[in-house]
Amino acid sequence: MTVTTNGSTPGTPDNPWGDTKTDTPSTGVNLGPTRRPRPVFPEPVPPEVHGPARVVAMVNQKGGVGKTTTTINLGAALVEYGLKVLLVDFDPQGALSVGLGINPLQLDLTVYNLLMERNVTAEDVLLETGVEGLDLLPSNIDLSAAEVQLVTEVAREQVLGRVLKPLLPHYDVCLIDCQPSLGLLTINALTCAHGVMVPLECEFFALRGVALLMDTISKVQERLNDELEIEGLLATMYDARTLHGREVLARVVEAFGDKVFHTVINRTVRFPDATVAGEPITTFDPSSLGASAYRELAREVLSRWPAPATMAR
Ligand SMILES: Nc1ncnc2c1ncn2[C@@H]1O[C@H](COP(=O)(O)OP(=O)(O)OP(=O)(O)O)[C@@H](O)[C@H]1O
Ligand SMILES: [Mg+2]
Repeated sequence: MTVTTNGSTPGTPDNPWGDTKTDTPSTGVNLGPTRRPRPVFPEPVPPEVHGPARVVAMVNQKGGVGKTTTTINLGAALVEYGLKVLLVDFDPQGALSVGLGINPLQLDLTVYNLLMERNVTAEDVLLETGVEGLDLLPSNIDLSAAEVQLVTEVAREQVLGRVLKPLLPHYDVCLIDCQPSLGLLTINALTCAHGVMVPLECEFFALRGVALLMDTISKVQERLNDELEIEGLLATMYDARTLHGREVLARVVEAFGDKVFHTVINRTVRFPDATVAGEPITTFDPSSLGASAYRELAREVLSRWPAPATMAR
């Protein structure tokens, strides 16, 4: 059997993402930072045809946990594996747009216009980024008004899903970067998503509020979107040198088990640096550990999705 450089079975046209192997050298079990046997995720084969997209909402009502950083860098890593990716900035702060080198204040049309104005189409708002295959629906502070204005709309939780629909056949993955709140905008993202990904900063209060988030996800599953799955919880800003970091990660794994991604994102200043440069870390510093971590996350995510990922629904 052919084995790729990382020990996994390579993908084939019938099984594009290959088979995940657990990296257990004869010397013993290789435990990753999550203290579980560390699988080796296969190198994906680029899809020959694109779409329809699997939609993933990046959600945690806690601020500053790595939602936007993960949206940009997971998106860019998936593009390196040949997927076409649509990013949706669904935060009035516009940090996703800024992180991709766009000044949100200079935009005429944003996701706000797409949601609220019937004559604006997704193509009108769509921007290409500096990374080929990675496109963006940008936002700015205008979006904060939508939270209030949507309240009186018919089917107010389904507005984002309706406006995204025409774009989804053209992409393999759509990542929605949510604001740190569980308000109506985030509910819209959860209502149109196939999966929800929860970044958690490895610090003392990491799990604070996660019970409320899980409760909200359950309610959306019951009432609005019974296909919504929890993609996984992602530990971010991890520092293996501190006992504190290791303890927090152990607690997260104890609480959520296999829902926690094996891939862990370390704390490094290269992420803020890449944001200032307005590009993903995969292009800003392609050989950095941060770039490798997001490539590993991309492989892990793809290994969890039905093959091919794009035929999930
Ligand atoms: N792994 C990391 N190591 C170091 N800094 C990081 C890391 N991930 C993100 N950061 C930095 O932490 C800050 C918060 O990250 P980010 O904006 O991605 O979080 P967020 O959850 O989207 O925040 P918000 O809730 O405000 O939208 C940013 O300055 C970002 O550059
Ligand atoms: Mg953010």
